[in-house]
Amino acid sequence: MSKRPLNVGLVGGGRGAFIVHPHQRAIHFDGTRRVVAGALFPDPKIALEEAAQWPYPIKGYGSYDEMIGAQAQLPAEQRLDYILIVTPNFVHFDPAMKALNAGIPVFCEKPLTVSLAEANTLVKTVREKKIPFGLAHTYLGHWTTRFSRYLVRSGLLGEVRWVDAYYLQGWLATKTEDTGNQQAVWRVDPKKAGGSGCGGDIGTHALMQLRYVTGLEVTEVSANLEIYVKGRPIDDHFTAYCHLSNGGRALVRASQVSIGHLNDLGLEVCGTKGTLRWRQEDPEVVTISLLGQPDRVYYRGAVTPGDGFLPKDIPAALMAEPTIPSGHGEAFHDAFARLHRCFEDDVRKYQAGQPFECDGSRYATVVDGQVGMAFLDTCIQSSKDKGAWKAMPSLP
Ligand SMILES: NC(=O)c1ccc[n+]([C@@H]2O[C@H](COP(=O)([O-])OP(=O)(O)OC[C@H]3O[C@@H](n4cnc5c(N)ncnc54)[C@H](O)[C@@H]3O)[C@@H](O)[C@H]2O)c1
Repeated sequence: MSKRPLNVGLVGGGRGAFIVHPHQRAIHFDGTRRVVAGALFPDPKIALEEAAQWPYPIKGYGSYDEMIGAQAQLPAEQRLDYILIVTPNFVHFDPAMKALNAGIPVFCEKPLTVSLAEANTLVKTVREKKIPFGLAHTYLGHWTTRFSRYLVRSGLLGEVRWVDAYYLQGWLATKTEDTGNQQAVWRVDPKKAGGSGCGGDIGTHALMQLRYVTGLEVTEVSANLEIYVKGRPIDDHFTAYCHLSNGGRALVRASQVSIGHLNDLGLEVCGTKGTLRWRQEDPEVVTISLLGQPDRVYYRGAVTPGDGFLPKDIPAALMAEPTIPSGHGEAFHDAFARLHRCFEDDVRKYQAGQPFECDGSRYATVVDGQVGMAFLDTCIQSSKDKGAWKAMPSLP
């Protein structure tokens, strides 16, 4: 029997918005999800105008309160199955709480919130309501990130000694915000972005790659949040030296003033037996270096179990690559689609009253968002204290 496509409602996305578009393409990727409604702008009149001009028909609402409030009155098949929050960071918590309290699953952009207190409240609510909540750490959706997770977590590189997790950009190397660039303006405003600019915006992605692939947690940090562009109130360069839960060390670093770097997110994991390297600007490739051997270069979908490094019993779920054969390139949109596809599974199970995973193995969770916020808080404290070592707090 064919499945009814899931109905998705957008919070944010009007007037020159950025990340809503990769998301909405990814939502439609499989034909099993579709965008049907949106509260696209803070001003209700503009929100309705933007909805009327959306590239395909959607039901416009003047605000997310109105959109969430309207659901109970709709016939079941017209109700939203989940909402997607693609607003600036300071407008994540409120719509997320309102949707959760109305029993609507939430897929939210990162960083989770603008404070650890808000993140804690969201975690508590998700646990109480037992409802799917996904966090849009895009790069977990690359098959190569999942492959890396398998390689590192199954011990093929030995014990992890050192990790370099980085996300480097150059687009804020001058006062981009003064040119009226919509994405820059709120990102350099601490009230809208949170206590860390660059760290919150892209450092959290680097942290998430580290945690997802290695399974290790950051236990202590010595951090420096720096401002290179004069007059900017928030960090545009972020460096955290980290102690890891296995006794290893890591650097989580991010920069938005590194001219020449576009979206240079990368991960290097050095273990006692070998090193793994991955870069999102070349997202189909994982390189493995073993002592005294030529490098092994693995492409998405083109791996052979039992090749002398890979075991014979690579998990079937990892090998069952559902999209196009290797060589026909996958990238950013495919990664987003993989996250929405996995979230859809959990939403359908939730609706059928079945147990669902939401365990962080296929997309980031509300707890990952909480860890991200705790990491930022700890780094901010360390930086204020001239890079003094600070322990990560224990989380409720
Ligand atoms: N996962 C990723 O790779 C990735 C990439 C870029 C941005 N992001 C995150 O996505 C979020 C949005 O970033 P962006 O660059 O798309 O920002 P943007 O400024 O391009 O878009 C934000 C949208 O939210 C709308 N908005 C603001 N307040 C609203 C309200 N109260 N009600 C309804 N709409 C409202 C704006 O009008 C705009 O349409 C941020 O949290 C950012 O950190 C994630």
